[in-house]
Amino acid sequence: MRTQVGIVGAGPAGLLLARLLHLQGIESVVLEARDREYVERRVRAGVLEHGTAQTLREAGVGDRMDAEGLVHEGTELRFDGQGHRIDFAELTGRTITVYGQQEIVKDLIAARLAGGGDLRFDVSDVTLADLDTDRPRVRFATDGQAAELACDFVIGADGFHGVCRDCVPELTVYERHYPFAWLGILAEAPPSSHELIYCRHEHGFALHSMRSPRITRMYLQVPVDEPIAAWPDDRIWRELQTRFATRDGFALTEGPLLDKGITPMRSFVAAPMQSGRLLLAGDAAHIVPPTGAKGMNLAVADVRLLAHALGGFYAEGRTDLLAAYTETALTRVWRATHFSWWMTAMLHVDPADDPFAARLAQAQLDYVTSSRAMATALAENYTGLPYAQGWSYR
Ligand code: FAD
Ligand code: DHB
Repeated sequence: MRTQVGIVGAGPAGLLLARLLHLQGIESVVLEARDREYVERRVRAGVLEHGTAQTLREAGVGDRMDAEGLVHEGTELRFDGQGHRIDFAELTGRTITVYGQQEIVKDLIAARLAGGGDLRFDVSDVTLADLDTDRPRVRFATDGQAAELACDFVIGADGFHGVCRDCVPELTVYERHYPFAWLGILAEAPPSSHELIYCRHEHGFALHSMRSPRITRMYLQVPVDEPIAAWPDDRIWRELQTRFATRDGFALTEGPLLDKGITPMRSFVAAPMQSGRLLLAGDAAHIVPPTGAKGMNLAVADVRLLAHALGGFYAEGRTDLLAAYTETALTRVWRATHFSWWMTAMLHVDPADDPFAARLAQAQLDYVTSSRAMATALAENYTGLPYAQGWSYR
């Protein structure tokens, strides 16, 4: 088999890149380890930066997002039993869209298959070879048969647990582990507020989000390595009610849980994001703690750069844009890494913290909610900093 760009991983990064390449007349094959149903059901991110939503529209996969996604002009920071609104629209002129990651994945898969694009699920044993030549190869197994894909470029969009990152020699890893995790739930209950609520309570962080007018998505800070069995549904609701309680009697609307799971939190950046003809994108190269809602948005930003750089290569033989990929991508990655770390520190309770650290978090929250300059800094990072250029080379 032969293609121009071999893409490992059908998450948001791999699928969107295949789409942006297709729109520029560049052929690709996408190889995914899981089955279609699994990737379409995986409940993960929900907040799209202004530019992410715009990119999906430009890619021709924004119709359902525009019909069903919820546009939010602000968010609430809640602490000491009181809410404080950050008005994104007023401070930055930008908004966010709440639309589930798995819905984006469904839309991208549908567009790929409708256009006759090559997308293979259930592949296994992916290995990469000849990355230092101009004919790199992806070897894999499908239906019990060994197969080989010869390409011009290989894109490692295979997430944090993928195999591509290990093919970059002399990788430098920057890492921070946090002493807590997030327990996430999806509940069949109408949202209790029309915007997201990021809440700091002495028991720890809690987040109120949503997926639709009937479905609430919420998260609770829990100890690291916490077994999910320690959290029967009634304990989850009790703790959520405690953390979100306000002085004026706020109560969450409860309902049956449709999904629950625990996610560890880490910051991780691997550099360089490329070696020879292999380029990494999204979670394969970097992870942020979810507090800033940046992970999927960073994956989209990486892929926009790759679409532009590969567009330049195929249109005019340019190699400079590809050569600059790591440096260009990492500027945004480190900004988001700092923002996510900052939001995490401000809103979580570290079990090892002393009263000094708790006072610092409190002082930061007081400042963000009383200073227009600080509120603007939060809003412009959260809604997403502008991109340096378009994703299309032409
Ligand atoms: P992935 O989505 O991980 O996709 C990688 C794909 O590669 C997967 O389908 C995987 O099955 C496949 N794969 C892996 N190994 C192989 C292999 N060897 N061969 C073939 N295929 C392979 N981000 C936000 O922007 N906003 C949010 O609000 C947000 N909230 C989150 C909440 C939670 C609970 C979690 C867990 C994450 C959240 N994130 C959020 C992060 C976001 O989900 C990820 O950053 C995003 O999925 C990254 O996309 P990706 O395509 O790079 O990787
Ligand atoms: C959601 C997830 C996040 O990590 C976040 O910061 C905001 C919202 C969500 O799943 O809706």
